[in-house]
Formats: sequence, structure tokens, C-alpha cells
Amino acid sequence: MSITFGDSAAFGDEAQIWVTPVFEGEAPPKASKKDPAATLIARALESGRFKGKAGESFDIAFPQGLKAERLILLGAGPRGKLDAPAARALGGKAVAAAGRAGGAVRVDLTGLEAGQALLAVEIAAGVKLRKHLFLRYKTKADPSDKGAPSFDLKVSDAAALEAPWEEAKAMAAGILYARDLISEPGNALHPEVYAEILAELKSEGLKVKILDEPAMEKLGMGAILGVSRGSARGGRLVTLEWRGAKDKKAAPLAVVGKGVTFDTGGISIKPAAGMEDMTSDMGGSAVTVGLMLTLARRKAKANVVGVVGLVENMPDGDAIRPGDILTSMSGQTIEVINTDAEGRLVLADALWYAQQNFKPQAMIDLATLTGAIVVALGSENAGLFSNDEDLANGLLAAAKAEGEGLWRMPLGAAYDEKIKSRLADMKNTGGREAGSITAAQFLQRFVEAGTPWAHLDIAGVTLSSADKPTSPRGATGWGVATLNRLVRDLYEEK
Ligand code: BES
Ligand code: MN
Ligand code: ZN
Repeated sequence: MSITFGDSAAFGDEAQIWVTPVFEGEAPPKASKKDPAATLIARALESGRFKGKAGESFDIAFPQGLKAERLILLGAGPRGKLDAPAARALGGKAVAAAGRAGGAVRVDLTGLEAGQALLAVEIAAGVKLRKHLFLRYKTKADPSDKGAPSFDLKVSDAAALEAPWEEAKAMAAGILYARDLISEPGNALHPEVYAEILAELKSEGLKVKILDEPAMEKLGMGAILGVSRGSARGGRLVTLEWRGAKDKKAAPLAVVGKGVTFDTGGISIKPAAGMEDMTSDMGGSAVTVGLMLTLARRKAKANVVGVVGLVENMPDGDAIRPGDILTSMSGQTIEVINTDAEGRLVLADALWYAQQNFKPQAMIDLATLTGAIVVALGSENAGLFSNDEDLANGLLAAAKAEGEGLWRMPLGAAYDEKIKSRLADMKNTGGREAGSITAAQFLQRFVEAGTPWAHLDIAGVTLSSADKPTSPRGATGWGVATLNRLVRDLYEEK
């Protein structure tokens, strides 16, 4: 399963599948004896059956004059509209069109103009991202599945793509790492195992520190420990540090992730239907970890710390009850109305810990926090909540550039009223209305005044029930690309 770049001389014509992107609205190539593919592309366009529209593909079997068994024309849309996300989608489409009968694919990217040359890297990234499947628990291979073919990308100047391809591979590695963690079932990836896996990231150059329950107890982390009580496994709080800036002591960006390895709801137990998807309730932590891996792989010139709260939310004789009052590390008390609103309890202590320990210049949290955000935004957009315009705008711009949906949601004092408690400093739910916003208000109570902060509610975007352009059905890894770009654009030394 390789992806290589080369020029015309590098590849023979033995690949079984040839793929050629075709731009929409351009003159068909001149038919010529020397270039049978050009003749076929011209025929396809002239027939009107294929127009080169983005997302379109046209399969020609046993193409006349070529050794290949298939010539696949991929619609690339209008040339001027092929940006990085569109190019990644094109690469993904090549994987989907080529199928899984093994062999080799040759993608002809010599049609990219000089100013578009770097899009070849985006197309390759799309190939890599779409190809990856989580097959760990399949013991029998499907006989018709020979795997995705290898991809050779034919470009005009392969040498110029080497450095950008290294960067793209670092990003892809982080996304795929996050996806694999999200795909793991709850029995395999419980908090103790998860922390052990993260300890291995020391070999990537990350500093990894693991707090177990006694250590969290000492720090007074009553909120996250409350969630963990019902689990037979011990909770963990893990920090991953990347200090790539010239000044290693400069205030870092902190990224905080919800890592509920399985969410039953606890005593406020969830209905059975669909509960299996709660293996992905550690998605925020996985994206945090994936980002840290990407930053380490590409040796980012920035200081970034990842903090992930790893717990399992289970019903048990020792589990927290509705009505219980917990004291968080911040000292603030929380009346638990619903034990299924556990993510915010985990983040309350993780956010506070991140600020006390690292004095970050800004803080971003990621969490599969509310079903309400799925109702509001579906699987197209994650929800963004922020107390800082520059950070919010930076995130929106980064998400747009990476083709990841993100939509800003409001915060405000009127929403905060809804989480006032009769008995404690706050309660952990604010009722049915504006459920994602009251969750964000809850988190904001654990953000110190003056810390620019953004909360990303990724409950709708972490799993996809259908194939997406650059990810097969299942875990998407949403957020690694956006945050990687944010770090590059706002926090990295140039
Ligand atoms: N992990 C869930 C949120 C979730 C829902 C993630 C759907 C992915 C898909 C979270 O812990 C939860 O249960 N939230 C509750 C909060 C409520 C009890 C206030 C919810 O959204 O129903
Ligand atoms: Mn829950
Ligand atoms: Zn949850």
C-alpha cells in the first residue's frame, strides 16, 4: 500500500488502472495516436456522458490502445475551484473508484498547471486518508477484497513535492491514529490501556505524564473522579507535551480532550439502541492525541500541550447518583442532575488542571459533548463556542481551509442562568433547551478570566454513518487537520 510520486520516466505503463482527473469546461485534449488516453478522454467529453464535474467519475474498461484494464476519468470541477479540500476529495474519489481488487493505480497529474503543482500532495493525502480501514478485529479476509491498490502519482516535478509530502504525511498519521483509537471498542480501550498506549508516544519525542486516581485525588479532582467511580477500571489524566518553540518556556497552547472510553450514561442510563456508538465518546481525546502526534512528526515550531481525561462512565453500586454534589479541582461544587452529562465533569477538572499547570496562552477543548449539537448541526458541522474573537476566527478560517465543517454558536449570561443550582455552585445540566450552549456555559465556569478559550462540540462529526470523500464510514478524525493548521497559522514561529 504505497503512494509514490514520479515523472513520466519513473513509471512504466504496467499499472492495471489509470486514473486521470479532467477539469470541467476546458477544451478536450487533442486526439492522437501517440496518446491513446487523450483520444479516449476527448471521446468521453464529446459524448456528453462525462463533463468533468467535481465528484463525477467515468470508467472505461479495456481502454483501446492502453495496456491498462481500466481508465478512470475523475471530474475535477473547474480548474480555478480546485482548492486543497477539493483536491483531497479528488484523491479520495480515486480510491473509491479504483476499488479493492489490489494491483496498481497510476494517477496522471501532469494536467496540473505549475501554480497548482502542490495540489498533487493534497490529492495524495486524500488517497492515504480514504484508503485506511480499521480491520484489526476481522479474522477472516473477504476473498473478493484484495486490498486497496498501490498508487503512483505521475507529476511534472516530483522533487518539489518531497518536503510538502512529509508535512502531509505527518498530518495524515495524526488523523489515522485518532481514527484507530476511536474505532477501538470499549472493552479493549479502557482508561488504563489507553494511558499505556499514550505512554508509547514518548518515542515520538513527546513528554508524557500520567496521573492515576490517587494522584488525581491529591489534586482534588472530584469531578472527573466522580465519573470514574462506577468503573472497574481506574481513570487517568494524561498530558502530552510538545515544546518545539525556540523558547521552550514560552506559554503553550493547551488542547484538552474528553476521553470517555465508553459512555453508558451511568445511573442515568442511556437507552440500548445505538449505545454501541458510545465507544467513540473518547473522540475529543483521540483528536487531541492525533494532533500531538502530527506536531511531533512535523517538528512544529510551537509549544503545545495536550491534556486528556480518560474515564469510563458505568452504572454500579459505587457510581455517582443524581443529586450527588461533587467538589471540582477548582473548588467549585457541582450538583449532578444527570450522570449522563459526564463529559463536562471530566473537562471541568482537565481544563482547570491545564491552566494551573501550564499557564497556557490559549486553550481549546474538544468533546463529543452533547446530543443537542447533533440535533442543531447534524454531521456537517462541529459547534464552536468561544470567549475570544481572534481564536474563534482563527479556528473558523483553519476549518474552512481544511474542508472541515465548523459553525459558531453563542454564549451568554442568560444561558448561564439555566445551570444555577439550589444547593451547589452549579448543576451539570440546564434542561432540554439550548443543551449544547448550557454545556458550554458549564465549561466556561472552569476557564479563568483572561484565558482565550474555545470549545469544540464534535458529537456530530466524530463518527460518520456513510463514506465521506476522505474517510470511509466510521471514525473521521475530524479536528486534527483544523487544529494542525491553526497551530501553523497562529502559534508557530515562521
Ligand atoms: N456522549 C454524550 C453525547 C453524545 C451524544 C455524543 C450523541 C455523541 C453522540 C454525552 O455524554 C451525553 O450523554 N450528553 C447528554 C447530556 C444531557 C444528559 C444533558 C445528551 O446530550 O443527551
Ligand atoms: Mn453521557
Ligand atoms: Zn459522553
